[in-house]
Amino acid sequence: MAKADQRFGQRDGSDQNFDYMFKLLIIGNSSVGKTSFLFRYADDSFSSSFVSTVGIDFKVKTVYRNDKRVKLQIWDTAGQERYRTITTAYYRGAMGFILMYDITNEESYNAVQDWATQIKTYSWDNAQVILVGNKCDMDEERVVPFEKGKHLADQLGFEYYEASAKENINVRQVFERLVDIICVKMSERVDVEPPMVTGAKTTRLTDKPPQLPQNCC
Ligand code: GTP
Ligand code: MG
Repeated sequence: MAKADQRFGQRDGSDQNFDYMFKLLIIGNSSVGKTSFLFRYADDSFSSSFVSTVGIDFKVKTVYRNDKRVKLQIWDTAGQERYRTITTAYYRGAMGFILMYDITNEESYNAVQDWATQIKTYSWDNAQVILVGNKCDMDEERVVPFEKGKHLADQLGFEYYEASAKENINVRQVFERLVDIICVKMSERVDVEPPMVTGAKTTRLTDKPPQLPQNCC
């Protein structure tokens, strides 16, 4: 496999059904809604019962962006501390992260900085990150204002969305935006460092920045 493909997503000759494969991870404290977010996106389902993830799990979904078939391998990590050694082992090679907290849980917000440090420590420099404040349907129990989430995201250099896995708010938008910013990053690297992208398409995948959806509830 070409070096560029390893770094920017695989183009596997044995499977002609996609142009790129991106590995994405969802991380954040336990119970913020990572599994629910993935189930909403992949299966359009939601359950209000809480079954804490053991270790790590994944789902695959193919999306079409700018005439390209992008196969997403989405890893859902356990938020519980005891699984940290297992889950951080999967950061390697991830091209994008959804870092999630719960807008009704201050502790999960306060942990965002630590999660960002974990990304820096265990993944590669160009991994793209979107910060998501989940459970925005629970506005009456909100303890983290939208502005606070946005401010932290700005400080960390991430994009920010509020979302609800329960009410299906901004779920698809977050994944699609993450794919788009990974594509932009890929095309920038093609322009800047040609030797690293041997075998990758040289066309810019996002000629035009996508329309930004409302990122607030
Ligand atoms: P771990 O696997 O332990 O890391 O937790 P997790 O982040 O995967 O949380 P999970 O998706 O299992 O959700 C925890 C609880 O929050 C469950 O009871 C969900 O039903 C609930 N939940 C998840 N997303 C939402 C949401 O958007 N709104 C509301 N109201 N509840 C949600
Ligand atoms: Mg889970």
